[in-house]
Amino acid sequence: MNTVLITGAARGIGLELVKQFLESGSQVFATYRGNTPPASLTDLLSTNRLSLRPLEVTDQNSIDALTALLEGISIDIIINNAGIIGPQDQSYHNMDVKGWLETFEINTVAPLMVTNALLPNLAMSDSPRVITISSQMGSLEREAKGMIAYRSSKAAVNKVMQVLALELKEQNITVCPVHPGWVKTDMGGDNADISVQESARGILKLARNITIADTGKFFTWEGTEHPW
Ligand SMILES: NC(=O)c1ccc[n+]([C@@H]2O[C@H](COP(=O)([O-])OP(=O)(O)OC[C@H]3O[C@@H](n4cnc5c(N)ncnc54)[C@H](OP(=O)(O)O)[C@@H]3O)[C@@H](O)[C@H]2O)c1
Repeated sequence: MNTVLITGAARGIGLELVKQFLESGSQVFATYRGNTPPASLTDLLSTNRLSLRPLEVTDQNSIDALTALLEGISIDIIINNAGIIGPQDQSYHNMDVKGWLETFEINTVAPLMVTNALLPNLAMSDSPRVITISSQMGSLEREAKGMIAYRSSKAAVNKVMQVLALELKEQNITVCPVHPGWVKTDMGGDNADISVQESARGILKLARNITIADTGKFFTWEGTEHPW
């Protein structure tokens, strides 16, 4: 049985990952923002394999509180899922700079800080893995206009994860950023290509199958390599 920690699990892809990992028999730690767990997660508490933990990913005190709660617990898979699309104004001629920096804090900096804080938990696993939900919108090979804050935050988190993969290879920790598809969530919108169920099914399969031989690769939810 795997033990999985998923950030930003109150809704969207994170919530569906919680459901599917539970269905597949995993022990799941799901994190949410705020003082009280949302109904979307408490509704799933009928299984004793789900634990809910508060986490604001940009707040080091919140990360420290999480690590204290998880002390001594082995974690096999961390899924850095929490993310935002960024500010309304994020074009080259009309940039909300404060919003851009906030996007970086959440999408780029936090996955590293959360992963680093949980290294002792990963070290207790036989097969530790870190999946960071990135986006093809950060791929340098895909040229497209606009959405500068979001694109740059995901391009940067890809680089962060590539470096981290090298740094953690000796510790046998597999690190991969993953494009989850264009997914029908609050972020992806109703016109997106795939459902949360399809996306989460692919991410779960990938998370289960990757080994240290895959570390540092950028994957799609379908399990194929994505160009950087
Ligand atoms: N949907 C797509 O098409 C798509 C495509 C490519 C990549 N992605 C990536 O996939 C991931 C999940 O996206 P989604 O579509 O499921 O988005 P979503 O429905 O908007 O959900 C985002 C989740 O992240 C949490 N979150 C945001 N900021 C946070 C913070 N500072 N601390 C803790 N939690 C925070 C939110 O918490 P609250 O509920 O409290 O707001 C929410 O649970 C993101 O990293 C996103 O960039 C999505």
